[in-house]
Amino acid sequence: MTTNIRINSDRLWQSLMDLAKIGATEKGGVRRLALTDLDKQARDLVVRWCKEAGCSVGVDKMGNIFARRPGKDDKLAPVMTGSHIDTQPSGGKFDGNYGVMSGLEVIRTLNDFNYETNRPIEVVVWTNEEGSRFAPAMIASGVYAGAFDLDYGLSRQDVDGKTIGEELQRIGYAGDRACGGREVAAFFEAHIEQGPILEAENKTIGVVEGVQGIRWYEVTVTGQDAHAGPTPMPRRKDALVGVGDMVLAVNRIGLANPPYACATVGMLQVTPNSRNVIPGKVFFTVDFRHPDSGVLKRMGDELKAECETICQRRKLELDFKEIWYSPPVKFDTACVNAVQQAAGELGFTNRRIISGAGHDSVYMSRVTPTAMVFVPCKDGISHNEIEDAAQSDLAAGCDVLLRAMIERANA
Ligand code: GLV
Ligand code: MN
Ligand code: MN
Repeated sequence: MTTNIRINSDRLWQSLMDLAKIGATEKGGVRRLALTDLDKQARDLVVRWCKEAGCSVGVDKMGNIFARRPGKDDKLAPVMTGSHIDTQPSGGKFDGNYGVMSGLEVIRTLNDFNYETNRPIEVVVWTNEEGSRFAPAMIASGVYAGAFDLDYGLSRQDVDGKTIGEELQRIGYAGDRACGGREVAAFFEAHIEQGPILEAENKTIGVVEGVQGIRWYEVTVTGQDAHAGPTPMPRRKDALVGVGDMVLAVNRIGLANPPYACATVGMLQVTPNSRNVIPGKVFFTVDFRHPDSGVLKRMGDELKAECETICQRRKLELDFKEIWYSPPVKFDTACVNAVQQAAGELGFTNRRIISGAGHDSVYMSRVTPTAMVFVPCKDGISHNEIEDAAQSDLAAGCDVLLRAMIERANA
C-alpha cells in the first residue's frame, strides 16, 4: 500500500540548505548554539514551515517544539520523529538538522499523497541536544523522558552563568505544555552517521541497534599563580603542567581499551591565562565513551585515581566530578526491524550499526519503542564545518524513515 510513496529529495535538500543559512560560517558550516538569537531564528523558520504543512504546533516547558499531523484516529498516541537544530560552535549543516528536516519532509510527503495514517505523526525539535552551550547533552529529551527533573533542566548554566530557563524566556520558547508524561507509540530519528563505517563499506543505510555509553567529567586543578620570571622551576605549583599529564592519561586510557573506547578532552579554561603568569587554576572536561558499561566505569575510575596521583606528585589540589552518565542503550527490536525492513524493501544496501554519538533517541528509548536511521557522511567527519553528505543518501534515509513510520503508525 505504501509502495509508491517517496519523499521529495530536492525539497528535503533545499530545506536543509535554507536552514543552514541561519548561522552559516565561512567554511560552509553552521554556528548556532542552543537558545541564542540564531537558534530562535531557526526555530521560527521551522515552526513556520510546519504550520504551512498544516501542522498544529506546541511548545513544552523545556522549549521542545512538537508539530502534529492528525491521524485517522486522532486519539491514538502519535508516532514521533525528530532531532535537534542547535549546533556545535563549529558545526555542520546536517547534524540534527537532517533529523528535523526529514520529519518535516515525511509530513510534506504524506500531504502530497493525501495519505492518512491511523495514528497522528509528530515532528519534534529537541532543545540543547549538543551539550556544547549547556551541559549535559540531550538535556531536554532527558527531562521529557524523566531522566532529569524539570528544575534541573531549566537551571543548567552556560559559561556566563545564564540558565536554560532564562534563555528560553528571552527567545520566547518557554512553552506552557508539560515536558513529557504523554504516551508516544514509537520514536524514530534520522541522522548522519558521524563516523566512517557506512562510507567505508559502501552502505546507504545504517540500521541503528543502539548507542554506546557516555560519561562526562569536569575537573578543576588548583595550584598557585606566580610570576613567570622570578619563580624557580622547583618551587612552582603549575596547574596546567599537571593538567598536561592528565590529558595524556585520558588519551592513554582511550588507547588502552581498543577498539571501542573513545576518550577526549575538548574544553580547557586556564586561569588567569596570561603569558607571564604561571597558571594557578585549570578547568577541563572529559568525554569517555564505550558500548560496555563495565569498561566505561573502569575507565572513569582509572582516570580519577591517576589524577589524584598526579596532584599529589605536583602538590596540586583536585576537584574531580562526574556530571553525566548516559548508559549504553539497546533500541526496540520491532522498531529496529521496521527500519531494516523498510531499507530492504526500498532496495538500499544496509548494515546494523551501534551509534558512537549520543542522540535524543537515547532518552526517548526509555519511554517508547525507538530506533534510528543512519546515512553516511563524507569521510566520516562531523562536529566540523566541513561536515557533508550526499543528497541521494539523505533522501534514502528519509524514505526509510517515512516507510518505517507509516508501518508503525498503521500497525
Ligand atoms: C552529541 O553530539 C554527542 O556528544 O554525541
Ligand atoms: Mn546530533
Ligand atoms: Mn552533535
